[in-house]
Amino acid sequence: MHKFLFAFFLFISASAIAQDVAIAQGWKFKTGDSSQWALPGFDDKEWAAIKIGEPWESQGYKNYDGFAWYRLHVVIPSSIKEKSFLKERIKFDLGKIDDGDEVYLNGMLIGKNGGRNYDIKQGPYDAQRSYTLSLNDSRILWDKENVIAVRVWDGGGDGGMYEGKYGISVMDVVDYIHIGTNEDFQFNGQQVAKKIALQSTSDKYDFNGKLRITIEDPSTIAVVFKQTIGADFAKNRPFEYTYRANLPSNKSYIASYVFEESRTKKEIIFSEGIPYILTPRPSPKPKINGPDVYGVRANAPFLYKIPATGEKPIAYDAVGLPKGLLLDKQTGAITGSVLAKGNYKVKLVAKNKLGTATKKFTIVFGDLIGLTPALGWNSWNCWGLSVSDEKVKASANQMADKLAGHGWSYINIDDGWQAAKRNENGEIVPNKKFPDMKALCDYVHGLGLKIGIYSSPGPQTCGGYLGSYQHEEQDARTYGAWGIDYLKYDWCSYGNIAPKNPSLDDYKKPYIVMRDALNKVDRDILFSFCQYGMGDVWKWGAEIGGNSWRTTGDINDSWGSLSGIGFSQDGPAPFAQPGHFNDPDMLVVGKVGWGPSLHNTKLSPDEQYTHISLWCLLSAPLLIGCDMSQLDDFTLNLLTNDEVLAVDQDAMGKSARKVFEKNTIQVWAKELEDGNKAIGIFNLGDKAASASINFADLNLPSQLALRDLWRQQNLGTFKNSFTSSVPAHGVVLLKSRLATVKKRE
Ligand code: GLA
Repeated sequence: MHKFLFAFFLFISASAIAQDVAIAQGWKFKTGDSSQWALPGFDDKEWAAIKIGEPWESQGYKNYDGFAWYRLHVVIPSSIKEKSFLKERIKFDLGKIDDGDEVYLNGMLIGKNGGRNYDIKQGPYDAQRSYTLSLNDSRILWDKENVIAVRVWDGGGDGGMYEGKYGISVMDVVDYIHIGTNEDFQFNGQQVAKKIALQSTSDKYDFNGKLRITIEDPSTIAVVFKQTIGADFAKNRPFEYTYRANLPSNKSYIASYVFEESRTKKEIIFSEGIPYILTPRPSPKPKINGPDVYGVRANAPFLYKIPATGEKPIAYDAVGLPKGLLLDKQTGAITGSVLAKGNYKVKLVAKNKLGTATKKFTIVFGDLIGLTPALGWNSWNCWGLSVSDEKVKASANQMADKLAGHGWSYINIDDGWQAAKRNENGEIVPNKKFPDMKALCDYVHGLGLKIGIYSSPGPQTCGGYLGSYQHEEQDARTYGAWGIDYLKYDWCSYGNIAPKNPSLDDYKKPYIVMRDALNKVDRDILFSFCQYGMGDVWKWGAEIGGNSWRTTGDINDSWGSLSGIGFSQDGPAPFAQPGHFNDPDMLVVGKVGWGPSLHNTKLSPDEQYTHISLWCLLSAPLLIGCDMSQLDDFTLNLLTNDEVLAVDQDAMGKSARKVFEKNTIQVWAKELEDGNKAIGIFNLGDKAASASINFADLNLPSQLALRDLWRQQNLGTFKNSFTSSVPAHGVVLLKSRLATVKKRE
């Protein structure tokens, strides 16, 4: 289900422990399945060579799903024991494996994760596989050839041994040490404080040594803070320390933590970017945000809550509403249903004691909905299959409270809500984590928000839950009766229904079937295709009625994943248009986890600015993938910058194109409806860099005023070009300020 992403240098590293035996090369591969392939004596000479570190799809096995085996012959020298102080266990680091694996050493099973039924209890597919054995284990053949055989199951999308850390090593003390960094940074004026913890997973050992904390300005490499402290800790006695540093300006800094263990002198290292907030606080005066256009179909129940910020209470008005729609002046929710086709020009008004704001808003009553990309939340990147009614409600409450004023509205339940069996009428029913789906939908609508759900055209979803195969109309009716507003429809096990080498028609078929089913329901249900970009879906997604389509495999919270996906969207870009958008997958900011336990995104703050800026430039649906009840100030700053969100929500619905690339710098530019351009200058390199844009390259006049969208500040007027420093993996997001601009009629 994953997509290969080029692994860039990552300055957030978990540890710096060298591997003793390299195993990154020399693997053999075969699709199919046989228990014989685990055996050391099996002759694999005829098998194909394969690279690990990228999925098999990119190595000649396009669209292959199912079982496949990897085999490696490797000598494990006994001398590697000498490198370890502990001399207790050996570790096989086999990277991440998509979806599930069983690993055999010399014919005997030594570890497994996930598997055919993708059992989440055994861990998610995007986890590093590190299997360990005692040094005395008779399955290891010291100083002789060993055969590692990996049986892989992939249920859909990309598969195989696709990324991560590879090697065989004898474990040492540092393997039992973890640097805990999950506490949020605290800010007080120029002072930043952060609590970190040294933790041990060893039942046997106590540790002591030195902890060095360093903060560096990455643009000058100057060290701006340094501290060394003694630390001792044991399994139930972590060493916790809060450091406090004065940081002179609101910009990118990197903190590094190095623990040197006293007995071995080995080091464990962790680096992280320090968040810095660019989005100005919203004014207490009223301001209306959200898109300029909004589509609605015949007979569909209408719900649009005017997104406004400003001190409460706010009184709302809407002048020129079409017949059939009514405004609740206290909440700003417009409900009802539109009766006659047409474009309705409405003036939205929000008033508080400090002033009055107005906004022109066009309700387009026709056949198309989702005229601008969806802004919402989805449960997958945080909760994975552990999503529940309570978690969905908690997110909805937070969205209503903190984000709805900026235009966010969808609350989408991903995989894991379905019961194991349909009811006696063949209807899909939720499992016990969702006691009453209709009540949940009513609850979310009561907050002025919309609600989405997830299914598959196959018999099973990617998580092994029930899909809609042969129940499409029935499921669409059920969604309609509950009050669903959004359907994500995920190919998954449909791979077993479709022919082995699907034609374009085969790719389209299940989506056409569900499109027809949704058309029969009297609700506006946004239709989001999820089939990882197969058959260049962007070329035909619109014509078969997709409101968005995933262009890639699944994202994760690494720079390799984010940049690999985000910067490869120039091909699909020309196909984005109002009502039909490319979807480079959901956001990985805030606390994510794909299961019950969450962690802070591993993306640095600059990588997160890149993420949001690029997704807005691409006119991507923005689906927040974090636990909304734990939104920290930095994440909120990323999600509530109205000028940045306006780039995503621009009514022209175009995607940015890559207009310039040199060394590590890429410039992406998006045409906006007002005649201006939004411009992202990205630095994909791991060092801060100076970058320029030439106005002529962007078809912009030689004399040009520019605005910094994150800071919401005018930068002045420039001649011919603009130059700026761009942080490592970071961005400068600009908008041109042309004097004469087009206006929507
Ligand atoms: C696939 C999709 C993900 C998510 C999971 C659920 O991997 O691409 O976004 O919906 O399935 O199982």
